[in-house]
Amino acid sequence: MTPEELARADLLLDVDGPVATITLNRPEARNAQRPRLWAGIARVLDELDESVRVVVVRGAGGTFSAGLDLGMLDPARAGDDGNLIGTLALDDQAIIDQIDVYQQPFVRLTDPRFISIAVVEGHAIGAGFQLALACDLRIVAEDARFCMKEPALGLVPDLVGTKPLVAAVGYARALEICASARVVSGTEAGEIGLAQAVVPASELDTAVGTMVASLTAHAHGAVSATKRLLQEAPGRTLDEQRLAERTAQVARFRALAGG
Ligand code: CAA
Repeated sequence: MTPEELARADLLLDVDGPVATITLNRPEARNAQRPRLWAGIARVLDELDESVRVVVVRGAGGTFSAGLDLGMLDPARAGDDGNLIGTLALDDQAIIDQIDVYQQPFVRLTDPRFISIAVVEGHAIGAGFQLALACDLRIVAEDARFCMKEPALGLVPDLVGTKPLVAAVGYARALEICASARVVSGTEAGEIGLAQAVVPASELDTAVGTMVASLTAHAHGAVSATKRLLQEAPGRTLDEQRLAERTAQVARFRALAGG
């Protein structure tokens, strides 16, 4: 994407060797998300060079993201592009298909080609929380504030956040967090398995550097294949999973032997 296209999508992109950093860059609106941002992230991920091994997602201005742009829920702006009230003129299937498009960047962040890391400081509300959940790993500031606010607005989380939340913290804790729409601090996120590193906000960059170094230390092919195995494990029987392991290992043997 050109710098102009990235700017229209409220994004910044920096690619430094194997690390691509996508920054939500709408700090004046606390990085509230619009369809143009989702389309932009999907396109950035599609266009990444094969050599990229880690994708870092973060927000400009000290906040990860305040979630859905509330203008999209404003009946007075029903004519605006992407306004969800405006879509009610469509039939149910058309709205379901539209949300499928919006979900695409959240799905693409799980691509086994790379490991995605959300760097969360400030607020991660609603779609912001879900964007953090879409990433494989989360490095968070102690005083970060996660909130799955959708139920408090009469909505459900529909940007691919429910499955990774259950996987990370279990069904009961996920239900409690969503139904209450309460704030989960960065410190608590670490305690309940939502975050893989929790540090003071001033140490986030150092923590990201340390994690990126450890994630890129070993063979790209081995790490990608292992990620795929771990991702697919919950949906398989033991016999199916061990077959997948054997199959992946043969590919690794051949790659190591150069054949
Ligand atoms: N959409 C649009 N604009 C937003 C926004 C949002 N979600 N969040 C903040 N902004 C704007 C504010 O309107 C304000 O704009 P102006 O300067 O023009 O008045 C600016 O960002 C700064 O906001 P605050 O002054 O409120 O900043 P703060 O630092 O004091 O508070 C905040 C930050 C706690 C995130 C607060 O802004 C807030 O609660 N925002 C709303 C969060 C929210 O309800 N998001 C929707 C979640 S549900 C969801 O995402 C739906 C879904 O997936 C289906």
